[in-house]
Amino acid sequence: MKILVIGASGRVGSDLVKQLLADNHQVIGTTRQQQQLFSDDNYKQLDLDITAHKEDIQKQLDDDIAAVYFVAGSGGKKILEVDLHGAVKTMQAAQDKGIKRYIMLSTVFSLDTSKWDHEGIKDLKGYYIGKHYADQWLVNDSSLDYTIVQAGALKEREGTGKIAINNDKAGENAIEDVAATLVAVLNADNTYKKVFNMQNGETAIRDAITDL
Ligand SMILES: NC(=O)c1ccc[n+]([C@@H]2O[C@H](COP(=O)([O-])OP(=O)(O)OC[C@H]3O[C@@H](n4cnc5c(N)ncnc54)[C@H](OP(=O)(O)O)[C@@H]3O)[C@@H](O)[C@H]2O)c1
Repeated sequence: MKILVIGASGRVGSDLVKQLLADNHQVIGTTRQQQQLFSDDNYKQLDLDITAHKEDIQKQLDDDIAAVYFVAGSGGKKILEVDLHGAVKTMQAAQDKGIKRYIMLSTVFSLDTSKWDHEGIKDLKGYYIGKHYADQWLVNDSSLDYTIVQAGALKEREGTGKIAINNDKAGENAIEDVAATLVAVLNADNTYKKVFNMQNGETAIRDAITDL
């Protein structure tokens, strides 16, 4: 499949690209950096800035892209422009191009405002508001076959291949497992138009996704 990864240079994005290439997908990875991130015949790089106009973003997308991953983010620096408006413009551009599949990396409880006073979330309110309305647009205003994967705190530690889904409390995630979960939902049509949260756990990723 030809897959666009928006945010290919990021911690999750780079792991995600690696795993998609290992599965023999054709990957277009976006970064504003000049250097080539991966040397693989199935990898192409795109210099995409999602603060650009929606029409300019759309013009940069190939016609035959089958799925889009959004794993970009401003790290709290440009929440409105990148995490909210930037994300929504990529949804609109994908939709207007006729791309159906769109997979969003979001954050645990992005859509559940009742949990935003919890420890670990209350200091991130601006970020949560941005992710909330981006996710809301995807769910309520798009016709995309979306999946929203809501991860907890991302940790640079070895993955276990095992996760827990839809826990009531936020937890941590090995970045490698988040990337593997994003890969696992790609063609899992039981995850279309679904939102779930994830953290480190005891269920093999494939089984957790199948059971959704
Ligand atoms: N940190 C956590 O604990 C946590 C928890 C749950 C969910 N998340 C979500 O996971 C996402 C990915 O996390 P991460 O740690 O992998 O991120 P990261 O390493 O900070 O990478 C951010 C990515 O966003 C891209 N980006 C930033 N501004 C952009 C712009 N204007 N146009 C296009 N691309 C832009 C960067 O590309 P360039 O190469 O162009 O700079 C980079 O690829 C976060 O943004 C957040 O929403 C994070």
